[in-house]
Amino acid sequence: MPKLTVPKIQEMKRDGKTIAMLTAYDFPSAALADAAGVDMLLVGDSVANVVQGKTTTLPVTLEEIIYHAEMVVRAAKTAFVVVDLPFPFFQMGPLEAIKAGARIVKESGADAVKVEGGENRAQTVSALVEAGIPVVGHCGLLPQDVLRDGAYVVRRQQDQLLRDVEAVQTAGAFSVVLECVTQEIASEVTRRVKIPTIGIGSGVGCDGQVLVFHDLLGFKPPEPSRTPKHVRRYADLDKIISEAVTHYVAEVRSGTFPGDENSW
Ligand code: KIV
Repeated sequence: MPKLTVPKIQEMKRDGKTIAMLTAYDFPSAALADAAGVDMLLVGDSVANVVQGKTTTLPVTLEEIIYHAEMVVRAAKTAFVVVDLPFPFFQMGPLEAIKAGARIVKESGADAVKVEGGENRAQTVSALVEAGIPVVGHCGLLPQDVLRDGAYVVRRQQDQLLRDVEAVQTAGAFSVVLECVTQEIASEVTRRVKIPTIGIGSGVGCDGQVLVFHDLLGFKPPEPSRTPKHVRRYADLDKIISEAVTHYVAEVRSGTFPGDENSW
């Protein structure tokens, strides 16, 4: 199958084909997701939470996201790779956003960047697109605004959300992530806009869905209370890995490992 492109992703909405997106941060996980048929891989700044063990996405640096993106791009044979523009490059306005976005696509080979914000930052979306960098918008709950808002704020005003999504669409974004929006609002926005909407915690009415790799596979976060309610676990890798490593440690201690196969 050929690699997915911006026009093909937009065609999926027109053809009523649901888009499956998943986060990935390294070569083996991206290769598995790509082979399993994931359409879009997101090198999310959630790398801060699920890989680096940090409490917000704000500390991720441009160098770190490029480092992870490069591994994911190398593994992606058909999936389209999107990379989060880390805080605060989008917030700094058009020039800094273009400089950071260009480094991401140039140095990692990624296909697009994702940026958080709506109406208030549409001008910067437009500048990125003008510069030749495809953009996925991100509206609804905005994790990069957590310090300003004092919490992860679920936005419930349909009119504002619609204005935000329409603004990023008009500015040239080719798709948009809707995070933690009510199903009713997400479905209405999805009907009203031409670009594909990709939901996370926003119900079944979106054009696609995205989940965080570690959540889908059952890795427990450092604080269990932080597992978002929209997560569905498709496996319990936490348990499988922990049992395998415990078994290995026990065999090393008991002298059962190494066996005959271990000697050259
Ligand atoms: O960084 C991330 O994983 C994301 C998803 C929550 C969409 O932005």
